[in-house]
Amino acid sequence: MKAIILNEPGEPDNLQLQEIEKPTLKPNEVLIKAKALSINPVDIKTRKGKAQYGQLRTEPPVILGWDISGEVVEVGNEVKKFKVGDAVFGMVNFPGHGKAYAEYVAAPEIHLALKPESISHQEAAAATLAALTAWQVLVQQAKIKPGQRVFIQAAAGGVGHFAVQIAKHIGAYVIGVASGNNADFLKELGVNQHIDYTQEQFEEALPVVDFVLDSLGGDMVSRYFKILKNEAQLISIVGGVNEEMKKRADALHIKAANYLVHSSGDDMQKLAELLATGVLKAHVSQEFSFENIADAHRQIETGKTRGKVVINLD
Ligand SMILES: NC(=O)c1ccc[n+]([C@@H]2O[C@H](COP(=O)([O-])OP(=O)(O)OC[C@H]3O[C@@H](n4cnc5c(N)ncnc54)[C@H](OP(=O)(O)O)[C@@H]3O)[C@@H](O)[C@H]2O)c1
Repeated sequence: MKAIILNEPGEPDNLQLQEIEKPTLKPNEVLIKAKALSINPVDIKTRKGKAQYGQLRTEPPVILGWDISGEVVEVGNEVKKFKVGDAVFGMVNFPGHGKAYAEYVAAPEIHLALKPESISHQEAAAATLAALTAWQVLVQQAKIKPGQRVFIQAAAGGVGHFAVQIAKHIGAYVIGVASGNNADFLKELGVNQHIDYTQEQFEEALPVVDFVLDSLGGDMVSRYFKILKNEAQLISIVGGVNEEMKKRADALHIKAANYLVHSSGDDMQKLAELLATGVLKAHVSQEFSFENIADAHRQIETGKTRGKVVINLD
């Protein structure tokens, strides 16, 4: 089968198309013939030798990627939920070695859900790592409630555009941050208020909020303290809550934590239900061929991607 191998960390051109053996299945795994996969900033960080690279390099060959949608072509002998011919999607083995940049991917059945018939493989592949992150942060960690004021950083990006839709579905008042280029997109997603970070400082434009989803980190974190009310929550998905920030948050009675998404078929099932009913929509802004995966990496590296970038197989 064709796979994209990373022989050495570095530039996008280090991603090399090669012929390798199809994966062999463990009893709890299914073999998926991939139809589409999606690219995330963690793919770029790992390609550069950071993020997950330290673990992946111990299990050569290094194959990046976690987000897939495709068809089950073989099942391990302990698999109960899926059969050959099922269309499935999910984030495979994250954190860990997903090996999704390949024609065939071996995935534990507990990381997958059936793809809703009403959405394409491209939309399904897009609604995996980024959508799971938004779901796990807002619903499971922060337990957002109707009427709460929710502040979503980078609201036009992969995680952000799902987070806006999920928070709106819960019934929150949603404030989304993006440049003016994404004003109409944020309106379509349903934000109650758009902060254009190129024109205004959010801490000057806003009254207090109940929750902040941080995807930028750094200096931004101390600015959030100006808008978070007593007992409010801050969750950073980029490790923005370091020891010093945690101490400052504690002193202000703000619950602050970092969060890392993990694979979950149960959560994928919840997302599948929202996608099937149209409550949640994946916005795929660009599609690339498997051979041009390096260009997809270059696009994500701009930091300006709207929604998601998807790779087509077949
Ligand atoms: N911990 C976890 O489990 C986890 C999970 C997923 C992602 N992450 C991390 O979270 C970060 C975001 O991921 P993602 O997939 O959403 O990234 P992404 O899709 O690449 O984000 C792109 C978006 O960022 C926006 N943006 C860029 N600079 C901004 C700024 N200064 N203020 C506000 N928005 C800005 C852009 O909007 P404009 O074009 O309008 O500027 C663009 O739409 C990444 O670092 C990723 O690695 C962590």
